[in-house]
Amino acid sequence: ILPGLHGASLAGRHVLITAGPTYEPIDPVRYIANRSSGKQGHALARVAKDMGAKVTLVSGPTNLPDMPGVTTIKVETATDMLDAALAALPVDVAICAAAVADWRAAHQAAQKLKKEDGQTGLNLALARNPDILATLAAPGARRPTLVIGFAAETETIITHAQAKLSRKGADWIVANDVSPDTGIMGGDHTEVHLVSATGVEDWPAMGKDEMAAKLLARAAEALHAMQLA
Ligand code: CTP
Ligand code: CA
Repeated sequence: ILPGLHGASLAGRHVLITAGPTYEPIDPVRYIANRSSGKQGHALARVAKDMGAKVTLVSGPTNLPDMPGVTTIKVETATDMLDAALAALPVDVAICAAAVADWRAAHQAAQKLKKEDGQTGLNLALARNPDILATLAAPGARRPTLVIGFAAETETIITHAQAKLSRKGADWIVANDVSPDTGIMGGDHTEVHLVSATGVEDWPAMGKDEMAAKLLARAAEALHAMQLA
């Protein structure tokens, strides 16, 4: 049992997790991506499975190994990630840990883009990607009981996280500082703030596995409390 788990169980629960970056193609050989390692989302999936949950992990491209006992759906684009997440419903808890590209190429070239002689620049038109967290959190019969998002910020972390909480309709936002000097992005440690409608909790720095355990224990407690209510 991981530290912070306190024997909490997710037996009988279905947990959906999005993880990793998305790749947004520009042409057959090029794409827009980001530096997400997928470690946090994969840690959440592993811990949720260990706590007895049925787990669906929708993951963008990572170097991480498949986990036995976790149903992993591999996707590349934000659009495919949204479709896979919606196809996994109904779930009790949805945790959006993916670093979804906000933009995709407005037009995907069928052939490799070529330079013209003398061309000194290129404007690439971008189109807005769907918001997976906001879509899952929207009111409706299939809304998960608990919808949790992440907010990776480099400044005014809590203010940005609170804005995301209300804008997206999530129940909780796990906010963290990803300024380059923190070494969080791609590392094994994290220092987060749990932001909800009732306030902000500052958690100490800890391993991503430990944070996953603490967050899922809180989720298990919240589901239990909601059922009693
Ligand atoms: N998210 C998502 N789909 C998107 C963008 C974000 O599901 N198209 C989710 C992320 O998985 C995360 C949360 O929304 O849980 C916040 O992501 P973030 O990139 O911090 O927020 P954005 O709304 O994209 O705002 P920003 O302009 O700061 O990037
Ligand atoms: Ca974003």
